[in-house]
Amino acid sequence: MSIPTPPAGIADIGVTGMAVMGSNLARNLAHHGYKVAIHNRTAAKTEHVMAEHGSEGQFFPSESMEDFVQSLAKPRVAIIMVKAGAPTDSVINQLADLMEPGDIIVDCGNSRYTDTQRREKEISARGLHFVGAGVSGGEVGALEGPSIMPGGTPESYKRLGPMFETISAHVNGEPCCTYVGPDGAGHFVKMVHNGIEYADMQVIAEAYDLMRKSLGMSASQIGDVFARWNATELNSYLIEITAEVLHQQDATTGHALVDMIQDAAAQKGTGAWTVQESAAFGVPATGIAEATFARCLSGDTKERAAARQALPANTQMVAIPDMNAFIEDVRLALYGSKMVAYSQGFELIRKGSRENNWNVDLGAMARIWRAGCIIRAQFLGHITDAYTRNPDLPLLLADGYFAGEIARVIPAWRRIVAYAAQTGIPIPMFSSSLSYYDGVRAQYLPANLIQGQRDFFGAHTYHRTDREGTFHTLWAEPGRTEVLQ
Ligand code: 6PG
Repeated sequence: MSIPTPPAGIADIGVTGMAVMGSNLARNLAHHGYKVAIHNRTAAKTEHVMAEHGSEGQFFPSESMEDFVQSLAKPRVAIIMVKAGAPTDSVINQLADLMEPGDIIVDCGNSRYTDTQRREKEISARGLHFVGAGVSGGEVGALEGPSIMPGGTPESYKRLGPMFETISAHVNGEPCCTYVGPDGAGHFVKMVHNGIEYADMQVIAEAYDLMRKSLGMSASQIGDVFARWNATELNSYLIEITAEVLHQQDATTGHALVDMIQDAAAQKGTGAWTVQESAAFGVPATGIAEATFARCLSGDTKERAAARQALPANTQMVAIPDMNAFIEDVRLALYGSKMVAYSQGFELIRKGSRENNWNVDLGAMARIWRAGCIIRAQFLGHITDAYTRNPDLPLLLADGYFAGEIARVIPAWRRIVAYAAQTGIPIPMFSSSLSYYDGVRAQYLPANLIQGQRDFFGAHTYHRTDREGTFHTLWAEPGRTEVLQ
């Protein structure tokens, strides 16, 4: 069966790539009254979408890319929702060959922001606009209202922004979509969103592990705890679904389903990108890094088997006199570690923005993450407030609200980290986030010694505490120091 050519210039917007995310995004647009052109590499998928959902709104299917492009009203807007990497490049090129100056190509996939920068350069050289837009919220979000983070030119946002704002999630009437900044800014922010998503998931997993290993609680009992926590400061989508995951029964065995799932976490790469970028920009995003490496460690099944055989535990039993007090300590340790991870994530956005001249509004990023996306949470409102009070806030944790919250959780957090160290429960994010906290607030760090070592073996020079300038010591001749500047 072939699809007839749709009328020219009929559609407000088009989506190519009819897998679940693409078709849901197209349906969301149609539900909001937009005329939506749809296309897929294989026409069968397009036909399937029409058969299943064609009556939900005004869709204009095309079999060929030529028909798809000609069906769009000018300036044309075509959204690409295909696999990141080579498939995205191929579709961009096909579209660009058929489009005219002023038209807009929008990549809504999880593309690496440096790819977006490259594509933006190539496409803008041809007179077209290229928008890299982060879209978060999974399949349901795409259909019912995602959080959208579009980059590109302000001009393209004028055409695209109103449509994206309409279909995005809303909080008190405010859309979870705003213009992020030029070229790769939208995908950079989405990348950090995903890094924070990894961190949020890891702190939840550590809390779960502490409860099952130290208190012997069942999955469903722990699920009850998470359901209660969802009514506290931790209220968020990820806490909510954690309770549901823990309460789910396995249909075949009758056990808790989570107990039947292998403990090897997968990842598609956005967490690793965030770690790479934080290292490249010199931002200590330790929480995201620990969360990413914890997934890597879990997946190292051979190495884990070897270590399990060879390595002694040398742990100590530590009594837990009050189970409820312990659970509350775990909750506060989770909260403290979460604040650290968000603070670090926002520092990474600030640094990325500064280095690329994007001028990203940090408070607005927290605002558009309040609904629609995977890390949606009440908590994000406090981040927006902090950056509204002081857009140049040097560190989110140092904002009065967060400093107060951290002060409240610190005693519990220290107790949990000490408990886990003694009993041998791995909590990489809880413990490393506490170390970050102690590091960032420390009067002195041991970096003076590191500078001394660097100067000793490589004449790498150092700065003094009492005088301006750059110094190198001739370490073999005590007392002899060269002033280099
Ligand atoms: C979102 C998610 C999504 C991501 C998945 C899987 O914001 O909707 O971040 O974009 O692809 O969460 O990521 P991993 O496979 O790396 O866990």
